[in-house]
Amino acid sequence: MRLQTLAAQHFRNLQDFRIVPHPRFNILIGYNAQGKTNLLEAIYLSANLKSFRTHQNEELVRFGLQEARVVAEVQRGNDTLTLELKLQTRRRLVWVDGQLTRRLTDALGLLQVILFAPEDVALIKGQPSARRSFLDHAVFVSRASYLSILSDYNATLKRRNAVLKNDRRDAKLLEVYSEQLVEHGAEVIGARLELLRQLRPLFNDAFRNIFGAKLEASIRYRASWADQVDLDAPPDANTLRCAMLAAIRALGGDELRRKQSLVGPHRDDLEVLLDGTPAKAHASQGQHRSIVLALKCAEILLLKDRFGLEPILLLDDVSSELDSTRNQQLFSFLASLSGQVFITTTAREHILLDQDQSAWTVHQGGLTPAD
Ligand SMILES: Nc1ncnc2c1ncn2[C@@H]1O[C@H](COP(=O)(O)OP(=O)(O)OP(=O)(O)O)[C@@H](O)[C@H]1O
Ligand SMILES: [Mg+2]
Repeated sequence: MRLQTLAAQHFRNLQDFRIVPHPRFNILIGYNAQGKTNLLEAIYLSANLKSFRTHQNEELVRFGLQEARVVAEVQRGNDTLTLELKLQTRRRLVWVDGQLTRRLTDALGLLQVILFAPEDVALIKGQPSARRSFLDHAVFVSRASYLSILSDYNATLKRRNAVLKNDRRDAKLLEVYSEQLVEHGAEVIGARLELLRQLRPLFNDAFRNIFGAKLEASIRYRASWADQVDLDAPPDANTLRCAMLAAIRALGGDELRRKQSLVGPHRDDLEVLLDGTPAKAHASQGQHRSIVLALKCAEILLLKDRFGLEPILLLDDVSSELDSTRNQQLFSFLASLSGQVFITTTAREHILLDQDQSAWTVHQGGLTPAD
């Protein structure tokens, strides 16, 4: 998958532009606050139809104007398609090959990107919800039907929590919702475990390549309904349902006291270990960065393996906090992938590539070729 052209008008601080990216590496060089991340955001929006920085359309439109536009020509295998996104204060409109889509989700996933943003370093250290989102996103990009599985689960969870919150509790209704919760929950967990089983060896390799072979990284699924989950022999749906029901029963009245569902995929977590020790508590900043980069690269490798389509990698300020050896290893690893990459940097010397690249200087929102 490649961006053949990218154009935008009235988007954040970027002066209106149209660029023809390189099929491999695209480097955006500039001082702070010049518009580098804004450009990655325009690409991310074309893929996800929402930003990673805001939910407010008006923040994306250049100050004082009413509407912004982003147009991406995308090559997917042998096909090309044009995605056009219009952002107005209250509306987002998307055209695919000139046809206005009825629902935004019709255009979701036509372009696939994997983003590494500086704040992602906190993925392992931060709240479990961010790790669940990473996992769910990774499942979704390899299996579009997962979105409805997840939304069925979330709807059931909401209904069950409403019963738990209601002081005039209805034991029968709660039981019905418990059954539904484990039914949908087993589907969510089954899909996550399947993805993790495939992702794990790719992650281990990517981490070794980026960080070095001295440290062994591993991933674990931490379940709210079991002590251990064996990723090599994941439980089937029936076993998952029984384990969740048993865990719910074992809680006794805890859920009623706390007025929320305490068992299910919404309480599960992903854990990364370095030489058997949880990275969350012990890893250094550079190790965190390498872990997250390895997770994202593993996601790309998996999609390439499964669909032959390599998503576009967006790396925002990736080299800071990596020592020169790790930075070198990262770039050798990136060179071993075959997809398109966009990298921002404040200093070109961080970019250790000698070919297959185009570069632009980003200055006060303007893009100038820097080759
Ligand atoms: N809607 C908008 N209209 C005009 N300018 C905007 C808008 N939103 C953000 N900006 C400006 O964009 C600039 C920030 O751009 P961006 O985040 O892309 O910087 P950057 O080059 O990635 O910097 P850094 O190296 O610090 O990450 C800021 O100067 C900000 O004021
Ligand atoms: Mg930035």
